[in-house]
Amino acid sequence: MQGTLPHNNQAPCLKVEGISKLFRVGGHRVSALEDISFEVRSGEVLGVLGPSGCGKTTLLNIIAGFLPHDKGRVLMNRRPVTGPGPERGVVFQEDALFPWLTVAENVGFGLRNGDGKAGRRRKVRNMLEMVGLEGYEHYLPRSISGGMKQRVALARVLVLGPAALLMDEPFAALDAQTRADMHELLIALQRRLEQTVVFVTHDLEEAIKLADRVLVMEKSPGRIHRDFAVDLPRPRDLDSMEFLELKRSMYQSLCGQEPSGPKIT
Ligand SMILES: Nc1ncnc2c1ncn2[C@@H]1O[C@H](COP(=O)(O)OP(=O)(O)OP(=O)(O)O)[C@@H](O)[C@H]1O
Ligand SMILES: [Mg+2]
Repeated sequence: MQGTLPHNNQAPCLKVEGISKLFRVGGHRVSALEDISFEVRSGEVLGVLGPSGCGKTTLLNIIAGFLPHDKGRVLMNRRPVTGPGPERGVVFQEDALFPWLTVAENVGFGLRNGDGKAGRRRKVRNMLEMVGLEGYEHYLPRSISGGMKQRVALARVLVLGPAALLMDEPFAALDAQTRADMHELLIALQRRLEQTVVFVTHDLEEAIKLADRVLVMEKSPGRIHRDFAVDLPRPRDLDSMEFLELKRSMYQSLCGQEPSGPKIT
């Protein structure tokens, strides 16, 4: 692999301080988030886990700057978040690629003119190589698989060198093997770029496999139930005692708040 990587060398740090969010639906008020506070260190991978409706997407959208909040504040590198910004790259469950642009054009779409045409092309080529899509530059999204589309979505965000990568159930729509491949890819990219990542998932195993820390949320109102440190060596052995014990603790943490049983995959 050649070339320099798009990486912001500043020490990125995300702080969420006392965030609350209320939705008004008809005559009802839904407390989607209540007094959410946590920090993400530079280069840390944070997983956010919780039952359906506990406010995971709402939280991510507030951090991304897509959604206003009622109380508290979000700080990115000590600056308050007031809207979307290039230092926070977002990947959704369903890819949002431009169907009329090729893979390479999709990845290069957000790059500024400052790099020059050759510079932009080099960045796109490096990024496509990093996500394993060399040779697919000229394909249109409709001609590639779901897993490949998510690789393009990831490449399109990472090529901009965001301080934090925000992902909302990015692999949930993929089959098990493709999801496992994407896990490996994300782990490799994260290590290489020392990328700060916040990802939302329903999947306990995915959370423990990928994250340095996992926030388990509870619902009605959406709050942080527990903050788990995942102090397991990498690559993580999914069959090790430590992995299984942590999985059981997290499962209990989820069950403790939902007697009927949480949705766990
Ligand atoms: N735009 C909206 N208007 C009204 N209520 C909303 C809106 N968005 C979310 N909510 C409500 O806020 C709560 C949290 O929703 P959110 O989508 O953040 O949950 P989630 O944890 O992401 O769920 P899931 O795991 O199913 O994706 C839910 O009760 C939901 O109905
Ligand atoms: Mg959601």
